[in-house]
Amino acid sequence: MKTQVGIIGAGPAGLLLGRILQSHGIDAVVLERRSRDYVLKRIRAGVLEQGTVDTLRQYGVAERLDREGLPHTDMKLFWKGERHSIPMTGEGGRRMTTYGQNKIVEDLVLRREADGLPLIFDAEVKAIEGVTDRPIIHYAVNGEPQVLECDFVAGCDGFWGVSRQHIPDAAAHSFEKVFPFSWFGLLAEAKTSTETRGFCHSERGLAVSSSRGPDVSRLYLQVPPDFDMASMSDDQIWDELSLRLANQYGKTLNRGPIIDKAVVRLRGFICEKMVHGRLALAGDACHTVPPSGAKGLNLAVGDVRLLSEAIFSLLRENDDRKLARYTELALQRIWPTVHWSCTMSDVFHIFPGQTAFDTRRQYEVLNFWAYDEIGQKVFRENMLGRPLPQY
Ligand code: FAD
Ligand code: PHB
Repeated sequence: MKTQVGIIGAGPAGLLLGRILQSHGIDAVVLERRSRDYVLKRIRAGVLEQGTVDTLRQYGVAERLDREGLPHTDMKLFWKGERHSIPMTGEGGRRMTTYGQNKIVEDLVLRREADGLPLIFDAEVKAIEGVTDRPIIHYAVNGEPQVLECDFVAGCDGFWGVSRQHIPDAAAHSFEKVFPFSWFGLLAEAKTSTETRGFCHSERGLAVSSSRGPDVSRLYLQVPPDFDMASMSDDQIWDELSLRLANQYGKTLNRGPIIDKAVVRLRGFICEKMVHGRLALAGDACHTVPPSGAKGLNLAVGDVRLLSEAIFSLLRENDDRKLARYTELALQRIWPTVHWSCTMSDVFHIFPGQTAFDTRRQYEVLNFWAYDEIGQKVFRENMLGRPLPQY
């Protein structure tokens, strides 16, 4: 098989890149290791920056997002019995919207399938040959070896993918911090309440309450790094959420059946070498943020916007100047965003061995974000996200 761009990975980065390239008249094949069912059911992110919403609208995949997305006018912070709401509308009406990543993925998959464009599930990429010249992607479907010849390869295969291994010295250009805890993510058929929605610092550990619609709650608990999710019954989970998020604020959480559970280790990671020859990385393949900033998907969308322009110039005009600047421009947004996500992690979690002094320093940051005009601006602008650098 032959195509212009071989896209590895059908997460938000790979699928959106396919959609943008299609609108520029560039052919692509998307190869995805997991099954269609798995990809559509994978529950993850949910908080979208305005730039992400605008991009999905621009490329005609926001019809359901416009109907079902929940705009935020504020964001609540809870700590030590204090509840504070920070107004979240930025200049030009910029705001955050809650809409599940699984729905974005489904919208993109259905659109690609309706357009009859190639998207191959259960296709695990094993290696990429000839990266500096004429790339050939080697992959396997049900153990059967296959090849895809292409003019360019986009490595959109997440943190654990194979693309980064084809960038020489990637490890020497990478920076990582692994946090000493995990998040236990829960999806529940329980009415959401604006009263308890927000980020909560508790001496028992962080809790986050978010939403996927009026009757579906999205909740997170800080847990130990090696947490076994079978160790907590659903009642124990609701009790723990109530202790952290509701009881001390005189509120009650709406309970309901828990329909999805997952544990994710928190890490910050950046690979500063994002291009080699005719291979470029985008999204979690080259950077990972702790979810406490709700930024990973938004960063992936920014990368893909920049990368699609570079691919367009290269393949249409034989001009590689944008590709040469892709990494530099993307990093201008990646580093501050990874820093913000790590700051949110530092402020809301209880670290092993944390002292009362450390906790009071966390309260001080929360006081600044909540009550100081400049602090509110810092919080709002970081949550709303940075503008995308232009070539
Ligand atoms: P992925 O979604 O990881 O997609 C990569 C794809 O490549 C996968 O489908 C994988 O199966 C496939 N793949 C891997 N290896 C191969 C191979 N060898 N061959 C073929 N295919 C392969 N971000 C936000 O912006 N806002 C949030 O609110 C937010 N909350 C989060 C909450 C949680 C609990 C988690 C875990 C993450 C959250 N994120 C959030 C981060 C966000 O989910 C990720 O940053 C996003 O999924 C990155 O998209 P991606 O397409 O780069 O990578
Ligand atoms: C979500 O709604 O899934 C969500 C909310 C806040 C975060 C991360 C994810 O920090």
